Amino acid sequence: MPIEITIEGPFTDISQLNNNLASFSPVLKRIPVRNDENREMGRIIIVELDKDNPDKKLSGISSIITQTERALSLSSEFYVGVRNLAHSEPSSEAIQSMEPFSPIPSMTIQPWTPDPAQPTNPRTIILDPHHAFGTGKHPTTLLCLRIMDILTNETSREQALKGAKVLDFGCGTGLLAIAAVKMGAQEAMGVEIDPQSVQAAKTNVALNQLSGRITIREGSWEVVHEKYDFIFANLVISVLLRTGTYIPDHLTQTGTAVISGFGGNQMGEIKRFFEEAGLTVYRQSVLEGWAAVSVVHCKQ
Ligand SMILES: C[S@@+](CC[C@H](N)C(=O)[O-])C[C@H]1O[C@@H](n2cnc3c(N)ncnc32)[C@H](O)[C@@H]1O
Repeated sequence: MPIEITIEGPFTDISQLNNNLASFSPVLKRIPVRNDENREMGRIIIVELDKDNPDKKLSGISSIITQTERALSLSSEFYVGVRNLAHSEPSSEAIQSMEPFSPIPSMTIQPWTPDPAQPTNPRTIILDPHHAFGTGKHPTTLLCLRIMDILTNETSREQALKGAKVLDFGCGTGLLAIAAVKMGAQEAMGVEIDPQSVQAAKTNVALNQLSGRITIREGSWEVVHEKYDFIFANLVISVLLRTGTYIPDHLTQTGTAVISGFGGNQMGEIKRFFEEAGLTVYRQSVLEGWAAVSVVHCKQ
């Protein structure tokens, strides 16, 4: 599968990493400052088209990142995002010509048109995906929406989505954050590393008139400062394994995190990883070879 890897960090450190990654043909750019310390930031983009061995390439890149972090005595200074360029999502042009569809029975996604009729059903989502991931058609998103539907109907007060505070980490179009609020959550925050997707998510929040209840932030875990009743994280496995250790710290004691984006054959690895991070898996879901888990703190 062709992949695009984005790595961000302070400009001097990222320049050093860029030298160490020279064999992967990285593209280094300065990015506008958006951190509290006013430090100049940079972004490396590596596009890896070799379809035969993406995992080997990814682990090579990952170990160079770790070595560079150690050599520079950094602790988690680099933020890494991986995008599957061959994801079988329909293109944004294709979705704009699509009819409204229901990924789950209680919800309809109405592709944006220049002159959209305001939906009468409060659980209709108007979506303009631009080039972001999250049209509602991909199995990894569908798994999250199905689990969200179950959570809406949970009877236990602790588990109910109604009135909850939700984090959609890696929000793409913002679909999961919007869906959560439409299904009863009080508020949501979407976090996204890709600036184009951030714009898409903000547009979608506005199209659904939810700007007062949903915030979209550009970045990664460094922009998450609070705890959430529900965390949805639909991410490729390399990002899950690199950043998933932040999830327990940002999940309320009775909260649930829904982790998606990995293959059914990677279930064992994912379960072990989250159990080591102090979470326990209480639900496993699979769809078309993809898998998702729902996890809670061990001592509930
Ligand atoms: C598979 S898409 C999921 C989109 C949407 N939440 C859904 O379920 O359809 C994963 C998203 O995570 C973003 N991402 C990848 N690494 C990230 C990171 N370290 N921090 C924040 N976002 C990240 C990608 O840019 C991409 O938009």
